[in-house]
Amino acid sequence: MVRVAVIGGDGIGPEVVRAGMRVMEAAADDPLELRFTEFEWGCEYYLEHGRMMPEDGIERLRGFDEIYLGAVGWPTVPDHVSLWGLLLPIRRRFDQYVNLRPARLLRGVESPLANPGNLDVTVVRENTEGEYSDSGGRIYKETPHEIAVQESIFTRRGVERIVRYGFEEAKGRRGLLVGATKSNGISITMPFFDEIFNEVAREYPEVEASLMHADALAARLVLDPARFDVIVGSNLFGDLLSEITAAVSGAIGIAPSANLNPEGAFPSLFEPIHGSAPDIAGQGVANPAGAIWAAALMLEHAGHPKTGGRILEALEETLASGIRTRDLGGEANTEEMTDAVVERLGG
Ligand code: NAI
Repeated sequence: MVRVAVIGGDGIGPEVVRAGMRVMEAAADDPLELRFTEFEWGCEYYLEHGRMMPEDGIERLRGFDEIYLGAVGWPTVPDHVSLWGLLLPIRRRFDQYVNLRPARLLRGVESPLANPGNLDVTVVRENTEGEYSDSGGRIYKETPHEIAVQESIFTRRGVERIVRYGFEEAKGRRGLLVGATKSNGISITMPFFDEIFNEVAREYPEVEASLMHADALAARLVLDPARFDVIVGSNLFGDLLSEITAAVSGAIGIAPSANLNPEGAFPSLFEPIHGSAPDIAGQGVANPAGAIWAAALMLEHAGHPKTGGRILEALEETLASGIRTRDLGGEANTEEMTDAVVERLGG
């Protein structure tokens, strides 16, 4: 039995997780039993209660095996409030220090690049520290001398464990790892990152590892993404670079992401990388592919890799057959595309 906490969240979030749940149910065969528990937390909850989730929200999620999330954020609530009120506390309290973002050019999906080649790259992003810290502040507010300071937090433990995860991931794939750095401009934290990267590299002679400045890396990902296998980076660099890998592999609506606590001490969280898409919310046209792919990753993580694989295969076959949502140049709506995936799974 896999117990899954489902947080649809805002905008198209609930629309796409509904699609993902249908697909998981269609794919689940003996002995996989799924139990979904839905939580209606997000910006609407905030407007009613003044918080994004109840005070004991983290405690309520703790007992689940996995968390499946749609998207969080809506124009009525400032983005930093919604993010810091729900998603970031979950990532941090459950020590989900790995944000894994696979990108692959699925059959039937066109890359915006003329020559994407055999694009198959995974970004391993640090998820609990780095540039996304709330350490700092503003002084002399509302004067011409106003100052804003925000500190980056890089710990040896934090860098070492994410870098090690990157090496392990590369070892299980094509054996190529690039560390995203910027030690030419960011002269304290990035040389620290590089140092630890090189230390860990000595333990993995079978992995071909190198460091590359994040700006050059961003350009290479557009010019020649197929040469990359695994990229490991800090919270900020991983965020930006994985947005590029998602974009060059088709559209933002396709890409999934896993927020992992690799030790399994806490539940891990799976989500599509896109947001709540206020411009199309409520129209039933959102692309469910990212949420479906995230569901496949979740089942794989829960110990059912075959079921996860079947879901991804059914999704890819559906796209290859021409059943695609508007963002991919197709005509199908969310439900039609989900129906097609479910049908391929024999549901
Ligand atoms: P967004 O990802 O929601 O939308 C960007 C563009 O992509 C829009 O034109 C949208 O229609 C399109 N799009 C996104 N997902 C799609 C899908 N599945 N199918 C078809 N089209 C899709 O990013 P935006 O507009 O910057 O953010 C909107 C809200 O979502 C904000 O409040 C933001 O903070 C939040 N957000 C939440 C995330 C999360 O929960 N992990 C991630 C990114 C943004």
